Amino acid sequence: MRRIVPWHLTAIGVASLAATLALTSLSAHSEDVLSPPAQRGYVLLHADCASCHAIGKVDDSPLKIAPPFRTLHLHYPVEDLQEPLAEGIITGHPTMPEFRYDPGQVNDVITYLKSLEH
Ligand code: HEC
Repeated sequence: MRRIVPWHLTAIGVASLAATLALTSLSAHSEDVLSPPAQRGYVLLHADCASCHAIGKVDDSPLKIAPPFRTLHLHYPVEDLQEPLAEGIITGHPTMPEFRYDPGQVNDVITYLKSLEH
């Protein structure tokens, strides 16, 4: 399933997203400046995954058994997720709807996940 999120493609969307990011979850880490691809990845994960997974640096997962994304790299390189993200995630996800991203979106998501590693 692919969702289209046109608002963030507009200049106003990008500006308001940057403002939102600065004011909300990342405010504790204002020294970190996300690159544009990482910001796009954040938007995708926020829309599709944040109802269950923690997607930031310090938050808890809303669904306790869903691993926070910042811990994924402790188990395997996040690049390993490229294929499942493109082909449809995933085993062991009984309650999770299927997601499928196009190559640009996969790249954005991986870039964001890598930004969580430090
Ligand atoms: C409806 C809740 C829900 C949503 C939405 C959800 N997940 Fe999950 N996810 C889970 C649960 C529960 C687990 C743990 C499953 C397990 O351990 O078997 C999990 C585990 C994972 C894992 C770890 C898999 C592994 O074996 O290491 C990844 C990666 C993952 N999810 C990615 C995503 C991505 C990316 C999205 C958004 C596109 C997403 N999830 C959306 C519930 C969800």
